Amino acid sequence: MTQTAPLPASPRSVVITGASSGIGKATAEAFAHMGWHVIGTGRTPERCADAEEEIRAVAAKGARIDFLRGDFSEMADVRRVAREISGLTSRVHVLINNAGGVRDSLYRTSEGLEATFAANHLAPFLLTRELLPLLEQAAQDSPKGSVRVIAVSSSGHMGCPAMNWDDLMMFGDFAATAAYCQAKLANLLFTRELDRKLAGKGIVAHAMHPGRVGTNFASHGDETLRSHMAAAPCIPPESPARTIVWMATAPDLGCGGGRYFHDLAEAEPAPQARDDEAAKRLWAESERILATLG
Ligand SMILES: NC(=O)c1ccc[n+]([C@@H]2O[C@H](COP(=O)([O-])OP(=O)(O)OC[C@H]3O[C@@H](n4cnc5c(N)ncnc54)[C@H](OP(=O)(O)O)[C@@H]3O)[C@@H](O)[C@H]2O)c1
Repeated sequence: MTQTAPLPASPRSVVITGASSGIGKATAEAFAHMGWHVIGTGRTPERCADAEEEIRAVAAKGARIDFLRGDFSEMADVRRVAREISGLTSRVHVLINNAGGVRDSLYRTSEGLEATFAANHLAPFLLTRELLPLLEQAAQDSPKGSVRVIAVSSSGHMGCPAMNWDDLMMFGDFAATAAYCQAKLANLLFTRELDRKLAGKGIVAHAMHPGRVGTNFASHGDETLRSHMAAAPCIPPESPARTIVWMATAPDLGCGGGRYFHDLAEAEPAPQARDDEAAKRLWAESERILATLG
């Protein structure tokens, strides 16, 4: 009887947005080092090329690295990237919605959206929705709770007492820091509602605050933000990356989703981030805004 060598097990797939720099790149390197199929996304072409090379350089044998490019303040780009991901894998075991940051003033995108709200909230909302079939496919043949969606939010959400329902994109009275804090509150409300909706499917959603991290983050912000970031020492991006990898893989975090973490421990988000009615309303508003784009 002839014996055939067993086929190598295909690696688990992780999609990491904003992998061209900072926390996302450090997280992509960690997963590549563990031998996963890493699908990173980024915006700036040179940073994407450099990051892809650096992630490949630390990848374990058997790992696979793919890198895609898109501007996530444009929903057409998010849809295209989602389609490209579907061409690379039939399963997404972990989705890390990390891309985002603060802007220095009001920018209206070609689709008429405010750029901070678009990139930090609408893009992860849409990408998660578009990748749901791949997450569900992964959940079908994975242990319950091992397929996860992770949001990189911020303690900045505490600076936003409530969503500005009358003007979610703050076109009437824009302030860069307020827009960022609201978008990071949106990350937590989205995670809460997503986890509730996915609970029966064996998929878990969690969110995290990375800390004050030394990345390109401040370079996109206004003078106030840059001084705030310069006022105290920053931790390296490898530190929140460790927390993200733990959140994505620790067996005991595979149940009781919708939680918030910081520095390898569960943390308490602000009360406004635990508001189920606001979470449901934000979901409906996000669907409504996306529907206006066609
Ligand atoms: N650093 C901190 O202290 C801190 C604190 C709290 C929360 N956070 C959050 O952590 C996450 C990662 O930020 P970071 O600190 O690692 O900053 P970073 O070094 O600037 O990295 C941000 C990543 O997101 C990408 N990105 C930003 N806007 C995008 C857009 N419109 N379309 C597509 N990609 C976009 C960037 O692409 P490019 O390379 O093209 O810029 C980059 O890959 C963000 O969500 C941020 O809000 C950071």
